[in-house]
Amino acid sequence: MDRRWVKLKVNGKERQVYVRPNELLLNVLRNELGLMGTKYGCGIGECGACTVLVNGRAMLSCMILAVTMEGQEITTVEGLGDYDRLHPLQRSFLDEGAVQCGFCTSGMLLTAKALLDENPCPTEEDIRQYLRGNLCRCTGYTAIVKAVQEAAKVMQG
Ligand code: FES
Ligand code: FES
Repeated sequence: MDRRWVKLKVNGKERQVYVRPNELLLNVLRNELGLMGTKYGCGIGECGACTVLVNGRAMLSCMILAVTMEGQEITTVEGLGDYDRLHPLQRSFLDEGAVQCGFCTSGMLLTAKALLDENPCPTEEDIRQYLRGNLCRCTGYTAIVKAVQEAAKVMQG
């Protein structure tokens, strides 16, 4: 299949990738751009591990063809914060022990970011509803929900 150039803005930087028409955004992020923070879980849209933000909305990168992303703005967990300047969500996930194996964590963080951008003061129920597409087998969700609540407080000042 013929490859095509696609221009994307990833974590604030213009990038160009040369992709086959059937290549998944998830694989392009990991294999072409080296952004390994986005995880490959189920590969069929069920676990949420591959969640990224596309123009600020949480989306499953295993369900998106890279060729459809021309000109779109994509945020992966690498764009959320870094070691010296963690995003409040990253800080609170650490502080609350909301990370165990960590496989779901990138997706959780980006879904939670989309939630807090949309609703800065969510109830516990709002958080559980919003995160329902992100499966975690390790933490039982209680610590994750607490971490999102704590980050919400910090972000509201
Ligand atoms: S890897 Fe995309 S939803 Fe599981
Ligand atoms: S921390 Fe392991 S799946 Fe969530």
